[in-house]
Amino acid sequence: MSGLNPSALTLTQRRQLLRHLGWGGLGLAAGMLLAHQSDASTIPAAKRVISIGGALTEIVYALQSQQSLVGVDTTSNFPEETRQLASVGYARSLSLEGILALAPNLILASEDAGPATVIQQLKATGIQFEIIAAHHRYEGLIERITRVAHLLGKVNEGEQLIKKIASEWQQVRSNISKAQQASKSAPKLMFVLAHAPNQIMIAGKDTSAHAMMDYVGARNCFDTVYGYKPLTPEALLAAQPDIILTTDQGLKANGGLDALLQRPGFAQTPAGRNKHVISMEAMTLLGFGPRLPQALRELHQAIAAFKVST
Ligand code: HEM
Repeated sequence: MSGLNPSALTLTQRRQLLRHLGWGGLGLAAGMLLAHQSDASTIPAAKRVISIGGALTEIVYALQSQQSLVGVDTTSNFPEETRQLASVGYARSLSLEGILALAPNLILASEDAGPATVIQQLKATGIQFEIIAAHHRYEGLIERITRVAHLLGKVNEGEQLIKKIASEWQQVRSNISKAQQASKSAPKLMFVLAHAPNQIMIAGKDTSAHAMMDYVGARNCFDTVYGYKPLTPEALLAAQPDIILTTDQGLKANGGLDALLQRPGFAQTPAGRNKHVISMEAMTLLGFGPRLPQALRELHQAIAAFKVST
């Protein structure tokens, strides 16, 4: 699908756009189309990129293509300058109007972008829309960088970035492997996702949290379930984690560490009794972006500091 400046929409594409916006969005769409006619005459080939997903935004910055960004979602919190960009809201609850108002001609989205209806509507507008998944794997990150670099015309920069990350990754994986050989057993971890108040979920398989626990050589207490699932006190008592892993955002949304540990069942686990809790910034820990090796190293060091696997 070719890239598209809103001023260059075909009649059919304009009709599609207006149909998807409905009559309420008519004024907005018309204003947007008119406003960008002048833009097009001054910078005809300019990319207007919206990046939905912190990892993708980090890649755009790492490739020195940030001047193309016209908007990002709220998981795009690194580097700090992203805060100056227009926000299209949370990646999982996007709104069509918020995105179209920024008149993008390229939308980069991670696999968790949603809701599905908005994604379908966006695809129907004819704006170049690229879902770039990492599938919770290091190899997925490499594919992500390759794809974004290609889309932004930064192939050489992409190759350099991959080289750097590959060397960092090799180093941290080798350290973890040495530590594993020296220890008798893997610590039991439980990941708590609590980004909305009073919504405590644990991570099963097929989540980025599970992938990080796996990469760091820990056991996920909840490796018999898939995806994020609500946590019950009974399941917590049965799981008996040595360490609780969570995010800074989750602790903040739920009143801090002590408030989390006062919830039913937490005090009856080794992790709760010993206050063995590791909290990391959500996108650093779970983003599968360019800081993946750094995140794994930090996680490994934090686990080692508790000395629970001997
Ligand atoms: C409005 C507040 C938020 C709510 C209600 C919320 C809700 C959720 C839910 C329900 C999931 C699980 C999705 C699934 O089942 O696959 C999730 C995952 C996640 N959220 Fe949020 N979230 C919020 C804010 C944030 C923010 C601000 C960030 C980052 C800065 C963030 C980062 C993440 C990450 C990294 C995951 C894990 C994704 C994975 O494993 O692939 N969330 N969130």
